[in-house]
Amino acid sequence: MSDPRVIGHRGASGSAPENTLPAISRAADMGVAMVEFDVKLTRCGTPVLMHDDLVDRTSDGHGPAAGFDLAALQALDAGRWFDDRFAGTRVPTLAQTIDLLVARDLDANVEIKPCPGRTAETARQVVEMLMRLWPADKRPPLLSSFEIEALATARDLAPDLPRALLFETLPSAAEMDRLTADLAPVAVHLWERPIDADVVAAVHGRGLALRAWTVNDPTRAVHLVRLGVDAVFSDFPDRILDALA
Ligand code: G3P
Ligand code: MG
Repeated sequence: MSDPRVIGHRGASGSAPENTLPAISRAADMGVAMVEFDVKLTRCGTPVLMHDDLVDRTSDGHGPAAGFDLAALQALDAGRWFDDRFAGTRVPTLAQTIDLLVARDLDANVEIKPCPGRTAETARQVVEMLMRLWPADKRPPLLSSFEIEALATARDLAPDLPRALLFETLPSAAEMDRLTADLAPVAVHLWERPIDADVVAAVHGRGLALRAWTVNDPTRAVHLVRLGVDAVFSDFPDRILDALA
């Protein structure tokens, strides 16, 4: 049984190009139970895995991801920027990714990462695709987003899919109460830096799990878990698995 306290961030993105099928396969090879990845829409509305609004950092192309139709986006090389060994890697669609998650028996945290002005549309396309393609006998995907509107859209379309609030810093107690009541999340996914015992208590006190991103230092991961953090996202999940073993 793999350790559910360690989540591969953008796959195993320290060892393979982030948000690609090789990165997700690497995480599975490492024995990780769950991977996180970022999803946005092509120009034509197909959900694909990509973090930035621009394709420039993670491919050999230029310009906004939202300006590419699927064929043009998948003509880009999304691996060579990371290492020549990954030359020819393509930007995966969410549908292709679901196939791999099923084949490798991986749980998923789908982070809805809309391009500007496309928040509700992105959430809708992602949720509709998950409802269509996600096997009924597989543990449901966990949805998260920095965009409250995306989580509200997901709640309305698929109330049974679990949701996580995503923040850099925890909002005020009043705002947490409001969001918890409105969105019925199961967890908070928080930047690791501001986490201390008070933050853990504030999240757990509302009945929510707390997961920390992005933790690549094994010593920090052990400290956070000792504080009560339920899981950490890491680009190097193998290192964190070793440290927690
Ligand atoms: O979902 C956790 C983490 O991935 C959020 O930040 O910018 O890496 O997507 P980012
Ligand atoms: Mg992310």
